[in-house]
Amino acid sequence: MSVTRDIELPPVIAAPDYPLPGSVRTPDYAPGERSALIEEIRTLLREKDAVLVAHYYTDEDLQMIADETGGAVADSLEMARFGSKHPASTLVVAGVRFMGETAKILNPEKRVLMPTLEAECSLDLGCPPEKFIPFCDAHPDRTVVVYANTSAAVKARADWVVTSSIALKVAEHLRNEGKKILWAPDRYLGDYIMRMTGVDMVIWQGSCVVHEEFKMDELNRLKDGHPEAAVLVHPESPPGVIALADRVGSTSQIIQAACEMDNDLFIVATEDGIFHKMKEAAPGKTFIAAPTAGEGATCKSCAHCPWMKMNDLRGLERVLEGGANEVFIDEVIRRRAEVSLKRMVDFAREHIKPGMHVSGNA
Ligand code: 13P
Ligand code: SF4
Repeated sequence: MSVTRDIELPPVIAAPDYPLPGSVRTPDYAPGERSALIEEIRTLLREKDAVLVAHYYTDEDLQMIADETGGAVADSLEMARFGSKHPASTLVVAGVRFMGETAKILNPEKRVLMPTLEAECSLDLGCPPEKFIPFCDAHPDRTVVVYANTSAAVKARADWVVTSSIALKVAEHLRNEGKKILWAPDRYLGDYIMRMTGVDMVIWQGSCVVHEEFKMDELNRLKDGHPEAAVLVHPESPPGVIALADRVGSTSQIIQAACEMDNDLFIVATEDGIFHKMKEAAPGKTFIAAPTAGEGATCKSCAHCPWMKMNDLRGLERVLEGGANEVFIDEVIRRRAEVSLKRMVDFAREHIKPGMHVSGNA
């Protein structure tokens, strides 16, 4: 893609208003604490018949444990699919709240634990059900399609749930059936889907606090300095950044692109936790973080999700030991949300092969 164009967005429907957690970076473990925690977690996972499912944005120690113990490190779609395929009676989900809720919605008979229940997502927080439901009611002629980054109550009001790896295919499918879409909550992903498929959409005006920060002009300058680099972009990024991409895709699709493409150098516009798996999946290749701030700013790439980074070894050990932080969902909401989520999982079975770089052996 090479064309940059201004797009006209509908008026802002809901201005998100929520506190951000403080910047959480590498945990400060006491000498010997890290290795002791890792050993203890391995043992507890076995003893408690538990499996760890971690998102690519989480701390690399958690990703490493998930890999080594037969769990999964994956994007949102594969995280959702993995829990149902694995026989363990307890799923430990390292990620943000909607990921734990999704696991519980699809696996009500299993115990779902999270290292922290405080890990939110700006998209979920910016789309409260009490505002979203009347918005849907005002558009009864539209099929309601929501991003997985939403609460169980929002999913319960939707006809479809999608993740970034399947959103275009579902939108094409609905367009071919002559449907009009109401999309929530990410406005940039919504705009991208609308431009790529031509489907008729109204779009909720939410955004991801991480991806929204990528800057088109700075990225252009970085590209000029590295003409041999391919640009990989997550579709939660602004349209000007997406327009500069050689590949646009979900986290697993970005990792896959780094393996498949001939380039040795990549500029990557997504959360920085992904570099752990990218380096592992495409050894010998070089990755540069796309810029997130303009000239003169102190932070050139702060693509760091403050909520994802709340997941750490201490929290993981604590919940495995004591069973704290269990995810519960009201059964009426769960049953409704299960319908829209299962629609995605069934559609994915037909249309999306499990990502080639998804770890996990369920
Ligand atoms: P993926 O489904 O691409 O992993 O995206 C999840 C997410 O939260 C991106 O910010
Ligand atoms: Fe939500 Fe953005 Fe964090 Fe992903 S990176 S969990 S979309 S706030």
